Amino acid sequence: MLGHRPEFGPGRIIERCGRLHVDLDTSLQVLVIQAIGLGHRADDPEPVLLVQYLERIDKQIAILKKVKGSVKIPVSVKLSPFYANPLNIVSQMDQLGVKGFVLFNRLFQPDIDIKKEAHYTPLNASNREDNKLSLRFAGLLYGSVTGSICSSTGIHTGEDVVKMILAGADCVQIVSTVYKNKIEYISTIIEDIQSWMKSKNYSKLADFRGKLSNKNLNDPFVYKRAQYIDLLLNSDQIFKKYPTV
Ligand SMILES: Cc1cc2nc3c(=O)[nH]c(=O)nc-3n(C[C@H](O)[C@H](O)[C@H](O)COP(=O)(O)O)c2cc1C
Repeated sequence: MLGHRPEFGPGRIIERCGRLHVDLDTSLQVLVIQAIGLGHRADDPEPVLLVQYLERIDKQIAILKKVKGSVKIPVSVKLSPFYANPLNIVSQMDQLGVKGFVLFNRLFQPDIDIKKEAHYTPLNASNREDNKLSLRFAGLLYGSVTGSICSSTGIHTGEDVVKMILAGADCVQIVSTVYKNKIEYISTIIEDIQSWMKSKNYSKLADFRGKLSNKNLNDPFVYKRAQYIDLLLNSDQIFKKYPTV
């Protein structure tokens, strides 16, 4: 779908600077920029300090401006989950006219084999539990940005797609589930979405997109960390009020 690393697809890095990779996928007619947030990379010899981090965000915005000024095709940004304030970054990029935000990228992480006492890099496929972050930010951003929201990470089933659209996503990006269940599984996902829509009498995605977004809720704390305080204050009720699944 959106974005390819050179080693995985036809895209190529046309610029690499300040933790922002630009992949040009010529087959898709859309420019997808991968903005790499806080986190250490092999090609970056220095540990990340806060000052550098702030400088890097400025650099990313500066590069984005340059890219936007240099190409005619739409520009989307695929964001790292490791920004301190993703809403602020998205808002800054939105003001520059970014057409879409893929939230979020899932970066390869090293693991350690304790028998061999050596590092290895697993495929790092996601699980369904990993989609809460994307869901939260789709819910927070719906109705607040002009660019489209593309939810990504941990979206494995039709049910997961429905959740993302209810939260406010315009579309989703799926990778791990296709690797695990093969390409045919996309038909199952679509059928499951259609059958859920039928059960709810919805005829199009717009009928329920953003229905459970922050904008459309009366409870301001659903998407915010303040509910954690409620959880601590009512710790005797935790397992009754907050399901553990
Ligand atoms: C094997 C594999 C290859 C990937 N290749 C790319 C890639 O070429 N470009 C890219 O932007 N993201 C790539 N990703 C990251 C995915 O696009 C996506 O952000 C991530 O896998 C989270 O989605 P998921 O939970 O559906 O897997 C890759 C992920 C995996 C597991």
